[in-house]
Amino acid sequence: MSFDLSVFANKNIILAVTGGIAAYKSAILVRRLKDYGFNVRVVMTKGAQAFITPLTFQALSGNPVHTELLDTEAEAGMGHIELARWADLILVAPASCDSLAKFVAGLADDLLSTLYLATKAPVWVAPAMNQQMWAAKATQRNLNTLVEDGVHVIMPAAGAQACGDVGLGRMPEPEEIAEQVKDYFHKAQRALAEKFGLLAGKKVTITAGPTREAIDPVRYISNHSTGKMGFAIAAACYAAGAKVTLLAGPVSLDTPNGVRRINVSSAMKMLDESLHQLEEGCDIFIATAAVADYRVAEVAEHKIKKAGDELNVALVKNPDIVATIAQQSKRPFMVGFAAETRNVEEYAAGKLVAKKLDMIACNDVSRKDIGFASDENAMTVFFAEQYQMEKRDLEKASKQEIAQQLVEAVHDALHNEIDPV
Ligand code: C5P
Repeated sequence: MSFDLSVFANKNIILAVTGGIAAYKSAILVRRLKDYGFNVRVVMTKGAQAFITPLTFQALSGNPVHTELLDTEAEAGMGHIELARWADLILVAPASCDSLAKFVAGLADDLLSTLYLATKAPVWVAPAMNQQMWAAKATQRNLNTLVEDGVHVIMPAAGAQACGDVGLGRMPEPEEIAEQVKDYFHKAQRALAEKFGLLAGKKVTITAGPTREAIDPVRYISNHSTGKMGFAIAAACYAAGAKVTLLAGPVSLDTPNGVRRINVSSAMKMLDESLHQLEEGCDIFIATAAVADYRVAEVAEHKIKKAGDELNVALVKNPDIVATIAQQSKRPFMVGFAAETRNVEEYAAGKLVAKKLDMIACNDVSRKDIGFASDENAMTVFFAEQYQMEKRDLEKASKQEIAQQLVEAVHDALHNEIDPV
């Protein structure tokens, strides 16, 4: 499971391909950009079409390829001005000497050079050419001018060239370029979230997944929690501008983009780390972990051997992590979860008070369609009295959407508190 891809789904990239043997790499570049969720439209110069056909790019991008300026049919589809406005970034890869020179001179005699002048979007160029052409004074002079004009240059790599030469001038691998583009949008989005997001600048700690309580070196007691809800909340908090630390029990999920993950196994370790996070600074603590209620009183040093028909293992109660954190003097905003099979709301409201939480989200795990291993959830959220907020029903939705709504609930409560504890 990955959380960062949809972020780029509404970002538009014009990939401009100019004449050079590296044009074949641009076909793969389209794929990589699409993998990240970008919308891609390809513009080709005449030179590019000598190396690779528009049909290839049409098939890969899923969009018609733009080759002509002022062609009646093409302009009727998406005219050059419209195309220039559509773009969130224009990536020229490979960028030939000729295209660089045209940009510098401000020519507008084909579609790409016109787009360059007509767009407000950032322009990136990935020059690719013979090493001697790269080193030529005119090329270097043009590059310097373009950098001064605000163009971002993806530097060519060194190595063997198609022409037999060895030196600088190879277009970097498509994966590398696509990753740089992704990082650029990611940073821009992050900067916005940190400034304007619902949880801008807040430090959030989230517990997630099951805990694992050792019996002996090879066996343990655990539960079926998958951690999906906690991971989705971590992703939503990060997207809302928070600094997120995820204390994860043993689960097989990818770490959400931008989230700091600390793996823990037992409840005692999860508690230690939670207290540590409090020391480091924590504004909001969200406890989604299914913490084992009991642990083995004495973990056997060696593997327990099969013996009689019965084996008794003494268990002792684990500390309640969320309640312990709620009792600390520097107490963050506390969010708990309650999974119940009956009297759901009554039990949840009781836990809100008993554990001294600010907010609790409860769900009915007797429902087969939601909960533990499911990708969907439905919840009711209660707030502590001092927030004077009505309970909130979060209708059945993906765990990602529920996580987003929980972030909104936390934000609303933080802004509604009239009598802080
Ligand atoms: O009491 P119960 O286990 O139903 O409470 C659930 C809530 O308390 C969840 O938010 C869970 O993460 C938290 N909890 C905890 N430490 C425990 C038990 C539960 O933090 N030992």
